[in-house]
Amino acid sequence: MKYVRDILFKEFVDSYHRAVDDDLAELRRSNEEKSVPLIFTETEEMLSLLISLTHPVRILEIGTAHGYSALFFARKLPDAHITTIERNPVMAEAAHAEFASRKERERIDFRIGDASEILEELVCKLSGADESEKFDFVFIDAAKSHYREFFEAAEKICTKDALVVCDNILLKGWIVEAEGKDAKRHRTSIKYMKMFLEYLHNRDDLEVTILTGADGLAIIRFINENQR
Ligand SMILES: C[S@@+](CC[C@H](N)C(=O)[O-])C[C@H]1O[C@@H](n2cnc3c(N)ncnc32)[C@H](O)[C@@H]1O
Repeated sequence: MKYVRDILFKEFVDSYHRAVDDDLAELRRSNEEKSVPLIFTETEEMLSLLISLTHPVRILEIGTAHGYSALFFARKLPDAHITTIERNPVMAEAAHAEFASRKERERIDFRIGDASEILEELVCKLSGADESEKFDFVFIDAAKSHYREFFEAAEKICTKDALVVCDNILLKGWIVEAEGKDAKRHRTSIKYMKMFLEYLHNRDDLEVTILTGADGLAIIRFINENQR
């Protein structure tokens, strides 16, 4: 019953979705056809609103897949640079081809490898850097049991006004109702995602907004000392 309701909600939201342009609409369609993971339309709408309000210029994305969301950021923000990380070689090859065929490639720094290692390199390079070199928007959309590690690395290399958005925090609803075979298979992710959400809420220097649309989003803002 819940599943039917979710499909109806998705169809309803999709009926109002307007793609950024025909090229991205086609990329979404072909990703969906090949079952390539990509952001839900509802997530795209929320990201679109957030970037329209905050105008980021240096975006860090963890989890590229075939590059849909990286191209979405690049196309919506013609002045922004996007650093995006992917560890799966098959995904990376496909993303590379998508980037190579579009003019946005010049603004996309595509890093292939495990996010833990690449973030470590970025932290070494940027932790003492000027605010103007740091990321002002972070989108975490990769290994679900590593969100805390990704977040803690990202916060070292983002500006004090940055927004961090984490996708799939509801893990298909298993975060509250872990029943069935699939939930059992994902029990490690479920456990670590719960711990990550607890961790975020226990930090009094963060403002955390949880949205239940799509597969759930956490939107995190750093509260600076003079705002507490
Ligand atoms: C949900 S998909 C990303 C979808 C993409 N953001 C989009 O909307 O087009 C998650 C991707 O993260 C990658 N991934 C998972 N763990 C990773 C890690 N530790 N380091 C880098 N990439 C990782 C997976 O291979 C997968 O392609």
